[in-house]
Amino acid sequence: MITIKNNMFHLATANTSYIFFINSLGLAEHLYYGKKLRNPEYDIPSLREKHVGPRVNETSLTPDDLTIQPVNLMSEFSTEDKGDYRTPSIAVSTGRKKLRTLDLRFSGYTSFTGIQRFSSPLFQALGSDQNTCGVSLEFRDPVAGVKATFLYTLFDDSDVITRRVVIENISSEPMTLRSAYSLQLDLPGHDYELITFTGAQLRERKETRQTITYGKYVNESRRGASSAEANPGIILKSIHDGQCYMTNLIYSGSHREVVEVNQFGKTHVLSGINDDTFEADLAPNSAFETPEAIMLYSHLGLDDLADKSHRFIREHIQRGPWKDRLRPVAFNTWEAVHFDFEERKLSGLIKQAAELGIEVFVLDDGWFGARNDDTSSLGDWQVNTLKIPGGLATVSKECHRRGMMFGLWLEPEMVSLNSYLYRKHPDWMLGDPSRKSHAVSRNQYFLDITRDDVQDYLISTMKHLIQNANVDYIKWDMNRHLSDMYSANPEIMNMGEYQHRYILALYRIQKSLAVTFPNLFIENCASGGARFDLGMLCYGSAIWTSDCSDPIERIPIIEGTSMLYPLSVCGTSVSTSPNYATFRSTDLETRFAVALFGVLNYSIDIMKFSDREKAAVKDQVEFYRQYRQILQFGIFRKEVRGNITVWSAATPDRSVILVLYVQTLMRSNCEDDILTVSQADENFVYRVVRRDDRAPVWDIGSDVSKFKKEEESYEVTGDTLKWAGIKLSDKCSGSGYRNGMRVMPDFSSRVYIIKKI
Ligand code: GLA
Repeated sequence: MITIKNNMFHLATANTSYIFFINSLGLAEHLYYGKKLRNPEYDIPSLREKHVGPRVNETSLTPDDLTIQPVNLMSEFSTEDKGDYRTPSIAVSTGRKKLRTLDLRFSGYTSFTGIQRFSSPLFQALGSDQNTCGVSLEFRDPVAGVKATFLYTLFDDSDVITRRVVIENISSEPMTLRSAYSLQLDLPGHDYELITFTGAQLRERKETRQTITYGKYVNESRRGASSAEANPGIILKSIHDGQCYMTNLIYSGSHREVVEVNQFGKTHVLSGINDDTFEADLAPNSAFETPEAIMLYSHLGLDDLADKSHRFIREHIQRGPWKDRLRPVAFNTWEAVHFDFEERKLSGLIKQAAELGIEVFVLDDGWFGARNDDTSSLGDWQVNTLKIPGGLATVSKECHRRGMMFGLWLEPEMVSLNSYLYRKHPDWMLGDPSRKSHAVSRNQYFLDITRDDVQDYLISTMKHLIQNANVDYIKWDMNRHLSDMYSANPEIMNMGEYQHRYILALYRIQKSLAVTFPNLFIENCASGGARFDLGMLCYGSAIWTSDCSDPIERIPIIEGTSMLYPLSVCGTSVSTSPNYATFRSTDLETRFAVALFGVLNYSIDIMKFSDREKAAVKDQVEFYRQYRQILQFGIFRKEVRGNITVWSAATPDRSVILVLYVQTLMRSNCEDDILTVSQADENFVYRVVRRDDRAPVWDIGSDVSKFKKEEESYEVTGDTLKWAGIKLSDKCSGSGYRNGMRVMPDFSSRVYIIKKI
């Protein structure tokens, strides 16, 4: 609900209030963002900053009111050259002298129900007139010739407020837009921990914490993709209590989050397109739309913040029929056979996958052109008939006949120099033709997808493939980052626009496929999780979280990712042991137990399975299918206790809880273990049983291997389970093995099924 009274705008979601005030100079003073206030309209004098005189050595906006010094005013936006020396949220150069002065003053507002649609192909959050409303405020600087419209949309059910800005050139001269952040959030004080999700390929989105102090913190990608390096989602958590704020961006390109503590100890947060890699020309009467940013507050801490973000993503970001559907269990050929397959081998894999209960067979890289390694053929999206003489339709038919969906890997944005496509259209490749060579990564180059002819080629090629081969699922990959931005597209005269235009083109192509094939399941991927963001989740039903398939290395990846994104969008993987990236050996049950939490995928040579492994995996798939509603859409919690990680996923009413218990290194003569389950409902009585994986205890010693795993089963009241916990039976730790002991070598795990009686 939005209340507008006495120049005060109170944007209230179910549990939060966001309040600003239009002051006598027409600036939007930010007053408060936090737990919902009942009647703040009576409290304006308390909420406003009371600057009774100017601070010496600071700059006042105007001689008419020396108390208004932008650098020390919490505000809805910051501009340049008028005394606000913090990082500006909007920056322009206007006129022949490229003036940077911008002085925006309030010129009106309109309220709306539902959402206001973008006019560009940017993706945005969706909401209905019943659960969504907003307000759009206009500010103008007639001298610079700039109009800025700030749009706030409220999503009551998940306590999210989104913000975006439309910047218009209302002058008669061209101008340059140098910064256009979507969000500015000024907070009082700086007693916060900044939590970012950083990493690299194979170790994406690990939670990184730092306590902020005076100065500037930047979380950014300049790569043209949201990146594995720094996810656009960030959190500020009070160091005193549970209060926390999240911001995120519905955008898949280079982004920048600035957290700046000014001289007076206030925190200035920006989120938006990375202005280091951006600059746009704005012709008279044209406008630039920023992506939509989200902000979210909770006074209950990080778990509540994550629950709300998950809800928002499921309800308002994801679209199409897969939005609420259970995600299928996949088999993926990549880590199983890489490029080494032909039709007969595929038939064998398909048969085996179907027998294991797999629901979608994904044919990964290597099916097209002459692609037998990664040096060629990207762009040649025709089946390699030497490998698959019957064509994709045969493979697809075989999958369908065996009751599985057929999935296909594509990397549409790329081209190999060694490809028919490149030979035919060398000018379609991104790069300055006057240079002899261009920067390369994984032997591949970008197509200039901002060109209409390239877009049309990609859309028609993919539509043709999907139709002809009856493809139900695509894995849309993107395995390098932008370089050599030179485009022959006559619409782009300033290459500072290129990265942004690239994302608009990507969205246009992906949307066109999703709209033509509404039932198509799109799994996005970028060397694992290098483009894991809200933009790629609009039409992407899931994202390949990481190429890291070592279960132990996966733990922090899923933990970090889940602080922002729901498990229903996180592709997980059971692959070969020892792991290709870490050389670590782990047992099949632990690989499965960690991969349980998310969208389950097997990428392992199932033809090499022993009968015991086949039986184990069949049983795993059945187990996952039985509980996947909870594992994909349930409430997720994580705890680390020394060398033990405990995850749980629960139904919203807490009547069923699945618990994962993973140990990293085993200690000799170790401590006793207590299993407490924070998600237990204190008023219930539960039955707790260990998932029977039917595997014998580890093959680690002659006296142990013949024993079965311990049979622990308890009936316990919810409050005992939550607070006192279950004292688990002894671990086998050096003094001989006895029946009932838990044998827990390095990297072993247990899954407990907890049900209300
Ligand atoms: C990327 C993906 C992998 C796989 C390969 C194929 O690395 O992340 O899952 O699809 O490409 O080349």
